[in-house]
Amino acid sequence: MTTAKPPGPDSAGRILVVGGYGAVGTTVTSVLGAWFPGRVVPAGRDEAKARRLGGVRVDVGDPDGFRQTLDLLGDVTLVVLCVEPPDTTIARLCLERGIHLVDVGASAQLLDGVTDVGLPTRQAGASAVLSVGVAPGLTNVLARRAHEAVGGAERIDLTLLLGAGEHHGADALRWTLAGLAEPVPARPARIELPGYGTRTAHPFPFSDQYTLPRTLGVPRVTTRLCLDSRPLTAALFALRRGGLGRLAGSTRARRVLTHVMGRVHLGNDGFVVGVDAWRGDRHAAYALIGREQSRATGLVAAYAAREVLTGTVPAGVHHIEQVAGLAGVPEELGGQGISLLRHTGRVSR
Ligand SMILES: NC(=O)c1ccc[n+]([C@@H]2O[C@H](COP(=O)([O-])OP(=O)(O)OC[C@H]3O[C@@H](n4cnc5c(N)ncnc54)[C@H](OP(=O)(O)O)[C@@H]3O)[C@@H](O)[C@H]2O)c1
Repeated sequence: MTTAKPPGPDSAGRILVVGGYGAVGTTVTSVLGAWFPGRVVPAGRDEAKARRLGGVRVDVGDPDGFRQTLDLLGDVTLVVLCVEPPDTTIARLCLERGIHLVDVGASAQLLDGVTDVGLPTRQAGASAVLSVGVAPGLTNVLARRAHEAVGGAERIDLTLLLGAGEHHGADALRWTLAGLAEPVPARPARIELPGYGTRTAHPFPFSDQYTLPRTLGVPRVTTRLCLDSRPLTAALFALRRGGLGRLAGSTRARRVLTHVMGRVHLGNDGFVVGVDAWRGDRHAAYALIGREQSRATGLVAAYAAREVLTGTVPAGVHHIEQVAGLAGVPEELGGQGISLLRHTGRVSR
C-alpha cells in the first residue's frame, strides 16, 4: 500500500469517502487515511459498518439526508464518490458549497451532467476530477500520451481485460450488467494483450470513448472489453446478442444477475489496459498490466484526491487527462506492482 506523504500544501478539513468500505472505497479510505490521518470519514448506507470504521451513514439516493450529513460534519473539504449516484444532485450539492469532488463513476451521461455544473463550481472555488479509475481513468491518461506520441491521433482504440476471478464489487457488477443493455455501435476486434495473447474484445459503453473526443479532439475512440477467461468472454457476449442485454435492462433481473455474477469466480484477478493510437501510418501503443482493478481504481482515486487537496487542480470540472499533475499516475503505479509497457512505430495497413 502507498505510504509516502503527499508533497506540497494541504487544505484542512475532512474527506468524506462515499462507498468507503466497498471494493474500490476500501483502498481509498486506507491510502488517504495514511496520508491525512484523522481526516477520512468512510460512508455508506450501512450505519453499523460505517460507524465501526469511524464513519457515518449516507445514501446518495437521499440528497436531503446527504446535505444534513455535510452540515453535521461541518468541515468536509473533499467528497470522493466511490459509488454511482442516481443523478448529478450529490455532485452539484458538493460543488456549489465549494466542496471538492473526485468521482470514480464510469457512466458518460452522469459525467456529462457533472461537467455542466462547471460555472457554479468555479465561482465556489471547488475542483472536480472525473474519469478516475482504470476505465475511465488510466485509459484516459494513456490515450492522451498515445495521442501526443503520434502527433494528434485520428483514431484511438482502448481495450480493457478484466480478471473474472476478482471479487468485483456489487456496484461495479451492476454497472457492467447495465452496460450490456446499451447499444454498441462498433464491432469486436482482435487485439494482442501483453501476457494474455490475442483476444477478441467487444465494444462496451465505458465513458472514456465519449469524453476523449471532446477533451483531446480525437474523432474516433472506441473502448472494448474482454475477460481473462476466453470461454466466459465468448459466453457473456453471445448472451448479449441472445437477449441478456435486454434482460439486464430490467432492475429486478439485474439484481439477480449481480448476485449470481458476484459468486462466479472463473479465472484470476489480473487486468490489462491497452491503448492504441493511429495517425496515418504512425502507431503508438501503451499497456498497463496489474492485479486487482478495484484496488488500482482506488489508488488512482487516492492520487486524484491528493492532487486536489494539495491545491494543484484549478477550480472547475476536469477529466483526469486534463490534470497535469496526474499525467504521471501510470509510473506512480509501478511502485504498486502495475507495469507500464510502451511501443511506438510505423505500421503498414
Ligand atoms: N473508473 C473505474 O475504472 C471504475 C472501476 C471499478 C469500479 N468503478 C465504479 O466504482 C463504483 C464502486 O464500485 P465497487 O466495486 O467498489 O462497488 P461495491 O464494492 O459494491 O462498493 C459500493 C460501496 O458503496 C456503498 N453504497 C452503495 N449504494 C450506496 C448509496 N445509495 N449511498 C451510499 N453508499 C452506497 C456500498 O455500501 P452499502 O451497500 O452499505 O451502502 C459500498 O460500500 C461503481 O460505481 C463502479 O462502477 C469504477
